[in-house]
Amino acid sequence: MINVSIVGAGQTKFGRHDNYDLRELFVMAAHEAIEEAGITPKDVEAAFIGNLSADQFNRQTHIAPLMADFAGMKGIPATKCEAACASSATALRAAILAIESGQHDVVMAAGVEKMTDLTTPGVIETLAMAADQIFEAQPGITFPGIFAILAVAHMAKYGTTKEQLAAVAVKNHANGVHNPLAQYQMEITLEKALSSRMVAWPLGLFDCSPITDGAAAVVLTKNKKARKFTDAPVKILASEQANDTMNLCDRTDLTSLYAARTAAYRAYKQARINPDYVDVAEVHDCFTIAEIIATEDLGFFKPGKGGAAVEEGVTQIDGEVAINTSGGLKAKGHPVGATGVAQIVELYHQLRNEAGKRQVKSPNVGLAHNVGGTGATCVIHICERW
Ligand SMILES: CC(C)(COP(=O)(O)OP(=O)(O)OC[C@H]1O[C@@H](n2cnc3c(N)ncnc32)[C@H](O)[C@@H]1OP(=O)(O)O)[C@@H](O)C(=O)NCCC(=O)NCCS
Repeated sequence: MINVSIVGAGQTKFGRHDNYDLRELFVMAAHEAIEEAGITPKDVEAAFIGNLSADQFNRQTHIAPLMADFAGMKGIPATKCEAACASSATALRAAILAIESGQHDVVMAAGVEKMTDLTTPGVIETLAMAADQIFEAQPGITFPGIFAILAVAHMAKYGTTKEQLAAVAVKNHANGVHNPLAQYQMEITLEKALSSRMVAWPLGLFDCSPITDGAAAVVLTKNKKARKFTDAPVKILASEQANDTMNLCDRTDLTSLYAARTAAYRAYKQARINPDYVDVAEVHDCFTIAEIIATEDLGFFKPGKGGAAVEEGVTQIDGEVAINTSGGLKAKGHPVGATGVAQIVELYHQLRNEAGKRQVKSPNVGLAHNVGGTGATCVIHICERW
């Protein structure tokens, strides 16, 4: 059992930020979370900050003390966490463990990434560093290419269709319309998704998450102290992480992520629930196929049934299990190192019934599924309304 709650959350708008640099994005999100918790930066005792590659994107290393200093949190232990696109979920997990250990009472978990300082080829090359250099990146494969391989495998084994992939994009863009912080706040039709330019077959433009700048932060404390900060804390029931082989050629199955299944199994056990309890989930839809695989790995649907479920509307906001109410990585945007905590920010608002037009009806349990690389890392958090 975990005894940690979220008592404040903040997020910048996701998108292209030409007028703000990395530290300014971080400070905006961090200060919003701190203000929400009704504290000052000096009350934060430690910070864990997710970031994939400020060194490549912004020519800046050693970012944790830099971010903490500019946010007014000088002197505290500030630590960068890196696990590719799951970086800030590992930061959250480190923050939870820091409180559970008894070392700290008030801890910040955050994530920040500013990708648009590079051109698209530069971004793609940088992201490919999160794949196996020798067996994948150097031979020339990119992340759209890697996820295209998973899509082809899923199509071959289960008959998943391009229409089902497109249905993920249509749903997530529809949700993004109601998220003022989303990069894309526009609906798309199935036809538009299906006819978009090809990136890596079968994945077209609308099957891909975009290139994004942004930051997200949460303030955590012990359950015992949570109500001193807010009337509506959100309790963390489970925090689990698992790894898998880095490269696809060492895997026996390309239609499912072992790390996701493993972390999910442990998380449900830790939270003492099963998938039926989950009302709302933010899952890692870096590409549309990734959402379909995620909903199967998390046990919401049987293997091979995730495509049909999204097509039938089961994962819409008013469906059986609402998936990616924020717009997901597809429409909200995917500033890679910030994504894991941004998923938690969405669950925080959903579980407090303050998600506006994208609000799920009275949800009790929310789940976040954040994947690093092609599933070499997966981190799962389960939260509950309190
Ligand atoms: C798909 C991708 C290659 C497109 O990049 P690009 O070809 O350079 O596209 P541009 O930035 O020139 O944008 C061209 C247009 O497409 C839009 N666009 C770009 N990416 C988009 C996306 N993923 N979805 C929808 N629209 C997108 C832009 O807004 C722009 O629209 P406009 O002409 O109306 O202004 C790029 O977004 C990408 O690499 N995505 C994957 C990122 C990734 O791998 N993340 C890690 C996952 S593990």
